[in-house]
Amino acid sequence: MRIPVIAGNWKLFKNQADAAALVAGLIPLVKDTVGVEIVVSPVFTSLSAVREKICGTNIKLSAQNCYWEEEGAFTGEIAPGMLVDAGCSHVIIGHSERRQYFGETNETVNKKIKAALKAGLVAIFCIGETLEQREADKTFDVLRDQVNGGLAGITAADLAKVIIAYEPVWAIGTGKTASDDQAQEVHAFIRGLIAGEYDQATAAAIRILYGGSVKPENVKGLMSRPDIDGALVGGASLKADSFAGIVNFGK
Ligand code: PGA
Repeated sequence: MRIPVIAGNWKLFKNQADAAALVAGLIPLVKDTVGVEIVVSPVFTSLSAVREKICGTNIKLSAQNCYWEEEGAFTGEIAPGMLVDAGCSHVIIGHSERRQYFGETNETVNKKIKAALKAGLVAIFCIGETLEQREADKTFDVLRDQVNGGLAGITAADLAKVIIAYEPVWAIGTGKTASDDQAQEVHAFIRGLIAGEYDQATAAAIRILYGGSVKPENVKGLMSRPDIDGALVGGASLKADSFAGIVNFGK
């Protein structure tokens, strides 16, 4: 049984006071929700403010990125162990915005995933094709490269601490969601890739989230599909009621 995950990616929004207020508003709306792993990802400087609020609740803390070294002369970077120290259990890795604007590649994503797992974090590993790639019929090739590259050298046992997030780049922040059928088709393909590279049991156990304009109105349809195990939510995670509406998709 795969426990669904609903993760909010707050991106570059919410200073400490706003982040604390957002999560304080969220807590009462999701406190009775069972059977869903709830994760929020504030900016680094708001982690401690959110950590204080969620202590003892059913909400988990994630960062949006990390570096692969444990320490050293790497000005501006954050080590996975430091995220654990800051109260994080999860970290988002390889988000398309990181790939697009900050030069992240399958290779650097792979190093980050390995470092995150070594530190004991759950890695939310993002993959997804651009509109250009989809229109050129390259979706499956791109995803195969991203999965194989991102997970190179990672064992089946380690994969228990990886969550894959499929986020078609053309659906992020655009209001254009992949249809339930489009998303299911890709999720099944990704699960098949894992079965091929690892084994059936590993493929059956891994959670694959969908991301890209997920809202309370479309989450139910997506979650009704057999290979969609949750959502990585950007815009709609910035308001307590809309994020709670997604978390509570089963109610
Ligand atoms: P969106 O973002 O929900 O605003 O489309 C999703 C994401 O980037 O993770």
